Amino acid sequence: MGETPAFGPGRIRQNAIYRAGALGRRPRVPTDPNGLERAARRAMSGDAWAYVAGGAGDGATMRANRAAFDRWALVPRMLRDVSSRDLSVSLLGMRLPAPLLVAPIGAAGLVRRGADEMVGAAATAVGLPYILSSQGSSPMEATARAMGEGTRWYQLYWSTDEALVDSFIGRAEAMGASALVVTLDTTMLGWRPQDLNRGSLPFARGIGIAQYTSDPRFRELVRERVAAGAGLSAPRPRPTPGALRTLASMARELPGGFVDNVRSPHTRAAVETFLAIYSKPSLSWDDLATLRSRTRLPVLLKGILHPDDALRAVELGVAGLLVSNHGGRQVDGAIGALDALVDVVAALGGAGSTSVPVILDSGVRSGVDIVKALALGAAAVTVGRPHVYGLALDGSAGVQAVLDNLVAELDLTLGLIGMRSIAELSPAALRRI
Ligand code: FNR
Ligand code: LAC
Repeated sequence: MGETPAFGPGRIRQNAIYRAGALGRRPRVPTDPNGLERAARRAMSGDAWAYVAGGAGDGATMRANRAAFDRWALVPRMLRDVSSRDLSVSLLGMRLPAPLLVAPIGAAGLVRRGADEMVGAAATAVGLPYILSSQGSSPMEATARAMGEGTRWYQLYWSTDEALVDSFIGRAEAMGASALVVTLDTTMLGWRPQDLNRGSLPFARGIGIAQYTSDPRFRELVRERVAAGAGLSAPRPRPTPGALRTLASMARELPGGFVDNVRSPHTRAAVETFLAIYSKPSLSWDDLATLRSRTRLPVLLKGILHPDDALRAVELGVAGLLVSNHGGRQVDGAIGALDALVDVVAALGGAGSTSVPVILDSGVRSGVDIVKALALGAAAVTVGRPHVYGLALDGSAGVQAVLDNLVAELDLTLGLIGMRSIAELSPAALRRI
């Protein structure tokens, strides 16, 4: 009996879409990145679109992220029997079905209520890890429940309150995180005109602070603030419609009943406490060194762009790096993430032999992008905005569609350039143009 070659995720996905099409159904989630973005924009509020799609300054870094991919061309090879393909990789001792992780996204609650649970459930369904954000819109325990056995990592924003840092780490361990990702590039929020021009910050409306408001140490800080009268010494906002809308949003988002929250001084104090302790501009290598005694989880650093920082991180003993410019949201005119990847990989021993795994984050929009990043030495990639666009279009199913489409295109592209496994990818598959 002849062997039936496995179809693989690419052909399975194509077939499912074309079969539905024959019955008159078109995919709800467009399969190309630009169509996906356009459709999501129509489905999102102005504030949500500004926050998610926006970037720092004029957007030069977001353009640089894309331009960096465009400067590499694949050079397909023929006649190599690509009937079965293996997309799986091993990362920090975990086996992943494809070299893709779901990036941490704060304040996704702007897009839909229950956003993090929906994203988490989709990641579990596809078998890919989800990195839960410190700026999550649901408590990490709730998102973890929605993920079942799915692999989760936790992304830490280092607060100015060290006890809160420990509390977040402890909760992350308890909810089953298998790695800790410390984001280094957002010790302050970047200058983001799209949000600034609308005067719109989700956190100020209580969206994206659920890890904090569900935390015992944070609640203690809020109580101290209220007792000290700090929240009350600030002038109470005049009850304009805008101020009332903000109060209603806070009261809806915070734990507890809406009516109690509207009345309680703790509601405004919670937002003010968050704004006072969010992130730590003084963060240094010495702070990071303290993690060794504070957690048993492998630690990865997110936001590395310079090869010297990469080398220093490896010296410190980190388990991996995320080369990232935060999707161009922090520094306008920064180096494209894929360009930085090339420098970092060279410093750490070259493609295929880096001393620690290097994950590429920022600008990934297609399966082809994943192939290019892996050929240049990335161990995996993360995807940010596209999965949020899927969320806007079709909730959890929309996120799953985006992830499935990325994996499908990765699978087909890998085969069509003559490769049977991720391990076969190397810089030889590319030419710089
Ligand atoms: C982010 N990002 C992010 N990163 C992080 O470490 N913690 C966070 O809370 C957030 N929040 C967040 C919100 C939104 C709306 C976006 C778009 C991004 C950055 C994110 O993890 C990732 O680095 C980028 O999204 C990657 O770039 P692309 O894929 O969006 O181009
Ligand atoms: C952002 C922060 C929350 O990019 O990471 O908006």
